[in-house]
Amino acid sequence: MLAPNLTPFLFSLLPLLTNAATLFAAQSSGHLTTLSLTRHGKSYNLSATSTTREAGGNPSWLNIDTKQRLLYCLDRGQSNATKGSLNSFNIGSNGVLEKIASVDAPFSGVAAEYFDLGGGNRAYVTASYNQSAIAAFSFPSNGSLEPPAQVLHPTSATTGPIPSRQNGSFSHHVILDPSQKFILVPDLGADLIRIFTYHPDSVAPLTELTPLKTDPGAGPRHGVFWRTPGQGKEEWFLLFNGELSQKVYSYRITYIEGGLEWEKVGEVTALGELGEGLEPNQAPTSEIAVSPDRRFVIVSSRQHSFNLSPLHQKEDSDSLSTFRIQDDGALSLVQIAPSGGHLPRQFSLNRKGDRVAVGHQVNSTVVILERDVRSGKIGEKVAETVVSGPVVFVGWDE
Ligand SMILES: *[C@@H]1O[C@H](CO)[C@@H](O)[C@H](O)[C@H]1NC(C)=O
Ligand SMILES: *[C@@H]1O[C@H](CO)[C@@H](O)[C@H](O)[C@H]1NC(C)=O
Ligand SMILES: *[C@@H]1O[C@H](CO)[C@@H](O)[C@H](O)[C@H]1NC(C)=O
Ligand SMILES: *[C@@H]1O[C@H](CO)[C@@H](O)[C@H](O)[C@H]1NC(C)=O
Ligand SMILES: *[C@@H]1O[C@H](CO)[C@@H](O)[C@H](O)[C@H]1NC(C)=O
Ligand SMILES: *[C@@H]1O[C@H](CO)[C@@H](O)[C@H](O)[C@H]1NC(C)=O
Repeated sequence: MLAPNLTPFLFSLLPLLTNAATLFAAQSSGHLTTLSLTRHGKSYNLSATSTTREAGGNPSWLNIDTKQRLLYCLDRGQSNATKGSLNSFNIGSNGVLEKIASVDAPFSGVAAEYFDLGGGNRAYVTASYNQSAIAAFSFPSNGSLEPPAQVLHPTSATTGPIPSRQNGSFSHHVILDPSQKFILVPDLGADLIRIFTYHPDSVAPLTELTPLKTDPGAGPRHGVFWRTPGQGKEEWFLLFNGELSQKVYSYRITYIEGGLEWEKVGEVTALGELGEGLEPNQAPTSEIAVSPDRRFVIVSSRQHSFNLSPLHQKEDSDSLSTFRIQDDGALSLVQIAPSGGHLPRQFSLNRKGDRVAVGHQVNSTVVILERDVRSGKIGEKVAETVVSGPVVFVGWDE
């Protein structure tokens, strides 16, 4: 028989023995769900283990600080609201979320990024879509929150050529550059990637520099910095998806006095040949991510779930497209795989790169797909669970 005092120790090993992973799913229904993925031989079990409704009425984006065991949930506000909120949680045992604090945030927040400023201070910057806004928050890195120190409402004298989506400025993402000197915000309506510098101690004030101009009608949504794996010259690229052009772009970035410049290296249609025949709003792209080994970029498309698409509901799943990133930053199509449901707004790879978690808005599902790290190809759906409302973000606690 085991010594009784060994029992808690053995229980603490259980997650390792069963290959357990914890995930968090933000749902526009106001739920924020903790999920557990366990493996038993060849089969998997994905199930909700706890849920909180203390993350505002319309959770839209999560930032998971696994080191400090904190989770930030941006809430875009319900359609009848005039503001959203930012909510912080302590990640307790079994991934149970314990509310710490809440502050007002601009309405329609859809993405955010945080980074540490030093002196125990943290910067948190948000992008709002419908009433284009960019907010700069600063608060201690222990889960406490403060209201935004600055809220900008970007405007543009000229906007893109697609009236249904580009009749104003629509901020969609927040990207910290690798030198951590610049904050980039794609503007889907203005066909710009805006560039800001920030105050080193307080983040605010953000100061806008000359933006990067995309192709007209690109509708830049999300972006990610990339550089060639291995040694050699440190050359950076920005890969981003055009939600409206339904393309993926690669640009070489140059740091210049007073900002950034770029030069296009390539563009590919997210859905390959199939996508060539589709108009804006028929297969809008949503999320983009680079694999942990930096060899591949993955983009989600929603060709079967937008009712303006001729393919609307023709198949029971939308798509994840994988491209190999060449050493010169150019992209070549590897595979178009089913995402496992309709309206994959967002997805996340685990740290190893062998699993993709996809959140589906229409089906209210979190789907786990296997991924072959060597070929970059996405494989079977290994687990799926239906949660209580549309999933707009899913992230791994690792
Ligand atoms: C899956 O996990 C949940 C939560 O831990 C548990 O209640 C359920 O019985 C498990 N299902 C299977 C098939 O193992
Ligand atoms: C924001 O705009 C999107 C797309 O036009 C729309 O679906 C959504 O309902 C709007 N959200 C709010 C909170 O108004
Ligand atoms: C907005 O609508 C929700 C649900 O329909 C309701 O619970 C909430 O009280 C409303 N909020 C405001 C500010 O009217
Ligand atoms: C975080 O730190 C600040 C300042 O040091 C303190 O006032 C606050 O109570 C702390 N908050 C939490 C949640 O521990
Ligand atoms: C853009 O068009 C929408 C719907 O037609 C309208 O509600 C909105 O006010 C317009 N925005 C701007 C900035 O003109
Ligand atoms: C997702 O929901 C849509 C619409 O109800 C349905 O047509 C489709 O079959 C579902 N897909 C999956 C994988 O369940």
